[in-house]
Amino acid sequence: MTTEPTESLLERAKAAPGALSRAELARLVALRDPAEREALYAAAYEVKLRATGPRVSLRGLVEIGNACAKNCLYCGLRRGNANVRRYEIPEGDVVRMARWAWERRFGSVVLQSGEIESDANTERIVRIVRAIRAFGGEDFAVVLSLGEQTEEVYRAWREAGAARYLLRIETSNPALYGTLHPADHSWARRRDCLRALRRLGYQVGSGVMIGLPGQTAEDLAGDIAFFRDEDIDMIGMGPFLPHGETPLGGVAVDRARQLELGLNMVAATRLQLHDRNLAATTVLQVLAPDGRERALRAGANVMMPNVTDTGYRRNYRLYEDKPCLEDTSEQCLGCLSRRVASIGETIAWGEPGTSPHFLARRGSSREAAAEPR
Ligand code: 5AD
Ligand code: SF4
Ligand code: FES
Repeated sequence: MTTEPTESLLERAKAAPGALSRAELARLVALRDPAEREALYAAAYEVKLRATGPRVSLRGLVEIGNACAKNCLYCGLRRGNANVRRYEIPEGDVVRMARWAWERRFGSVVLQSGEIESDANTERIVRIVRAIRAFGGEDFAVVLSLGEQTEEVYRAWREAGAARYLLRIETSNPALYGTLHPADHSWARRRDCLRALRRLGYQVGSGVMIGLPGQTAEDLAGDIAFFRDEDIDMIGMGPFLPHGETPLGGVAVDRARQLELGLNMVAATRLQLHDRNLAATTVLQVLAPDGRERALRAGANVMMPNVTDTGYRRNYRLYEDKPCLEDTSEQCLGCLSRRVASIGETIAWGEPGTSPHFLARRGSSREAAAEPR
């Protein structure tokens, strides 16, 4: 059997979404040769330009609290890490940070925290979402990233006005998931949460970690297939980075390889799925100062500047070497704007940045037109 040259594979992928087999996706994800990787990124960039133009959507990230009931083996916020000073930002301050993002004409704000399932938390989020919806118009979406919850809780937040939800599946391989989590964490529940969110009309985001111990290129190809099978609208993924205060803290990683894998995954995902929103994640910036810009050039179209007050940032560390711990939101925004300009792209100020895939799957229905509500 002769192998199809990478160039011709890329041409096929550019022509139509879903053109690549799992084996072909795995081949792209595993590419090492610099010239071949450049060709991969250039092909993905072409598809992105067709989908969204040379434009970046900004999503402000507020890390509203760092308490977490879970104990994921890789994460610095895990319940078992006693070295974390736990905080919860007062509601009025969360709303002020969201308002700051709205005033700066960001497309959306993400409220993120560890996973807490309680009535008090549910109600706190309802109040915060309502308060943001009260000033943010149609062009400012409220996005939640608050972990696994019951369908009733997701419904209450949706009814309060949240339009989008981010919940990473972490890996599409349930067996690999099992090695990264305690026995009482369920891959199937997480997948079912994504399905519940979709039923409730959310624009649904998911994602994975890349370069996990024991993960293969086939697993990563399976992740892209998962996004397609589950009809995921927004994708955020980044390389795994060990955190010293976790059970996986001692895992040795080759940082240059993690960066390559991260960029390859962004590009392969863009080539296979064409119209999803794809984030240039902050972890890539840890691995290279221009890591996020390189992701934009490999097919990403969303950036998530941190808009949390500086004082809280050092207590929200999922992985080591988190950047911007001493920077203000104003500084991060300036830094990011310069980075976007440096690659000749522009920021889509004042636009909600709705995933083209979400608009397509909703057709031209009234619901889609009123998306941010
Ligand atoms: N390295 C990289 N990403 C991590 N996350 C958690 N811990 C790490 C780590 N050590 C990611 C998970 C989670 C998201 C909020 O952060 O994918 O869903
Ligand atoms: Fe909690 Fe999320 Fe970290 Fe898991 S990854 S310990 S759920 S904050
Ligand atoms: Fe925070 Fe560059 S994004 S300083």
